[in-house]
Amino acid sequence: MLKNTAYAIVSGYRAIRSKPVVKELCNSSNPVVARVGKGLHEGLYGNASQSAVAGLTQIEDRRRALLNTRETIKVIDYGAGSSYEQRTEEQMKQGVQKTAAISNICKASKPARWAALLHHIVLCCEPKSAVELGSCVGISGSYIASAMKNNGKGSLTTLEGSPEIARIATETFSTLGLANAKVVAGAFHSTLSNVLEASKPIDFFFNDGHHDRDAVLRYFEQSLPYLSPNAVVAVDDITWSSGMKSAWKTLRERKQVAASVDLGKMGILIMGEPVPGKSQFDMPL
Ligand SMILES: C[S@@+](CC[C@H](N)C(=O)[O-])C[C@H]1O[C@@H](n2cnc3c(N)ncnc32)[C@H](O)[C@@H]1O
Repeated sequence: MLKNTAYAIVSGYRAIRSKPVVKELCNSSNPVVARVGKGLHEGLYGNASQSAVAGLTQIEDRRRALLNTRETIKVIDYGAGSSYEQRTEEQMKQGVQKTAAISNICKASKPARWAALLHHIVLCCEPKSAVELGSCVGISGSYIASAMKNNGKGSLTTLEGSPEIARIATETFSTLGLANAKVVAGAFHSTLSNVLEASKPIDFFFNDGHHDRDAVLRYFEQSLPYLSPNAVVAVDDITWSSGMKSAWKTLRERKQVAASVDLGKMGILIMGEPVPGKSQFDMPL
């Protein structure tokens, strides 16, 4: 059963230690930074309503069902592999074919505590258009799309390289009644440009696929012209490898970024003109 707040499950000590940073964010003169702060505050220390908790519990029921599935499927992996693997550009472009158990594939999904933070940020930022790189079986996408459904506006397009995994993500959204989420199957290098064009201006962009330094930077550059002026960009697994750490360091220094929040495993960029005062916030959770 999902606890009432992410606070109850994110390390309590770290969440408490982060309180002054969350307060700074909430008091920012940049309204989008303040909304991200509010989302983090709600996710970490807030009291979610019963209906919101029920919605998230359904997503966790779906995760549990997939974790208990014995079926295996064919997958094609266009990602970076494991953090110690050195896949070549060509291998990542062609994809690596294998067979995998659905239960193992599902384990790559964001844990509930992190997905709930995304959910609360989306609740507070009220994006109309969101794009996710890396659907997997649709768990983080469901947290994002359910927040948009609660907001009464917004739709999510999520991209997944493996057609069989994309099919399961589509099933996840339909099981959960999330008609505002759709999956596009295919390698990002083939699908992203059309999705960007169809989704512009993009208010919320979650990059949780292809954890390779150059790929992360490339997809960021490619997305820039399609982002709305004050878009929120979340990048997952920023400490997964030395390449990901380097990508995050580069991204938060980009001149198009007004402010950034380092949550340890995940980074959040708030696009736009720089605001006077502090622009880089660190609160490892
Ligand atoms: C970490 S999982 C995503 C987890 C998901 N966001 C969640 O939390 O529920 C990354 C997914 O991205 C997909 N992926 C990685 N690199 C890709 C690429 N270059 N093109 C298409 N899909 C890719 C993988 O197949 C995998 O399912």
